[in-house]
Formats: sequence, C-alpha cells, structure tokens
Amino acid sequence: MAQDLIRVLLFLHLSFLCSASAAVGDPTPAPWPHQFHAVLFMNYSGALSLIDLWYDWPGGRNFNIIRDQLDGPPFYDLEWNNGTSFFYTLDSPRSCRSVQVGVGILRPNWLDGATYLGQQTVDGFLCNVWTKADFIWYYEDVVTKRPVHWVFYTGRAAHVMIYEEGAVLEDAKWQAPVYCFQKGKEESREHQRINYDAVHQIVDQKMSLGVLHGL
Ligand SMILES: *[C@@H]1O[C@H](CO)[C@@H](O)[C@H](O)[C@H]1NC(C)=O
Ligand SMILES: *[C@@H]1O[C@H](CO)[C@@H](O)[C@H](O)[C@H]1NC(C)=O
Repeated sequence: MAQDLIRVLLFLHLSFLCSASAAVGDPTPAPWPHQFHAVLFMNYSGALSLIDLWYDWPGGRNFNIIRDQLDGPPFYDLEWNNGTSFFYTLDSPRSCRSVQVGVGILRPNWLDGATYLGQQTVDGFLCNVWTKADFIWYYEDVVTKRPVHWVFYTGRAAHVMIYEEGAVLEDAKWQAPVYCFQKGKEESREHQRINYDAVHQIVDQKMSLGVLHGL
C-alpha cells in the first residue's frame, strides 16, 4: 500500500517536472533504432574502456562486450529482456555469473519525455542535449541525429565512436557459455577473474535505468 502510494506520488512529481519543463517546439531525441551496433569509448573517472554495444530490441537482448584499457581479453555483459543478465569471460580462466537484474532492456523510446537543455558542442559535434530524470545526460548530433555522447549520474561517460544502425550480431554470439548453466560452480576460484566492482556498477546502473522504463 505504502509502496503504491509512493509510486503514485513519484509519478505525479515526475509528470509535473516533465510538463513544467517541456516547452512547445523543443527538439526531441531520436528514438533508438530497433537494432544497432555502437563502439563506445568509456571514461569512468579516468578509467578507460572500449565497449561494443549490440542493441537488439526485437530479439529482446542487449550486449556489452567490455575491454578495459590494457587488461587482456574482453568481459561480456549479456542482458535479456526477461531481467536475466550473464556476466562472463570466454578466455581462460573462464567464469560466469548470472544476475536477476529485475528490469529488462531499454525500450527504443526510452528517451521520451526527456528535458531539453539546449545545444552544446561535444567531441567537436554540435549537439542537442537532454536529461532524463537526472539519471542521464544525452548528447545527439544536431545534423545527423546520431548519439555522440552520454553521461550517467555516476559520472560514467560514453563517447560514441562507431554507430551502425541496423547492424545485427549473429545469433550464435548471443549464446552464454555452458558453464553459466552448471550448478555448484559458483564458488569456483575461476570466478575471481570477474571484476565484481564492474558488475556491481553495471547492475546499479541498470537498476537506476529501470526507473526510466516506467516513465
Ligand atoms: C577522463 O575523465 C576525466 C574526468 O573524470 C578527465 O580528467 C580525463 O581527461 C578523461 N580522459 C580522457 C582520455 O578522456
Ligand atoms: C531469460 O532468457 C534467457 C535467454 O533465453 C535464459 O537463458 C534465462 O534463463 C531466462 N531467465 C529467466 C528468469 O527465465
């Protein structure tokens, strides 16, 4: 009961914020293409990484293949729309952890209702800038409407280096490895390879983004 009330109050509050700030004629962000591939240069307080992002809305799945700077083989974050995420490595030592994140992947129109903040030049591109619920600041190229940059409230910043609309990763690559489904391996030493800080940050971020799903 109390939870429902809080939800309703939060919704009214956010609706008010949205209607108060959305001026007629403000540009709106382009919805995400239903499938795309992006290469993201990430900077989290000076810790750099490259992410291959494969977004597949019809497939109900989202993939982050993460390479930390000079840190060897990639780390895989495979997210399904049913709320299950798999975090794993494919190279030795192999490890996997599945997590119930509680939210699905972002909808293509997840930026609907974002608050327009005006124009700014970022990474050399003139961009329209929006914020959504103080979770994310989103920069889109004025001319091409492609995303150029976004920053999460945590300070995690993405610079879009490659953006391929309609690109689809072959099905076989979406298969989590067999050791993700083997019970009793959870305590295995092999799991130490996984950077749990990174996992927690990703999960935190997903939980927060989950709030955006309801808006
Ligand atoms: C990464 O971000 C920090 C601020 O958090 C900044 O000082 C640094 O120059 C950035 N590094 C790169 C390579 O962009
Ligand atoms: C969600 O979907 C994936 C891929 O089909 C599957 O491996 C996983 O077990 C599912 N999770 C739940 C909770 O059903």
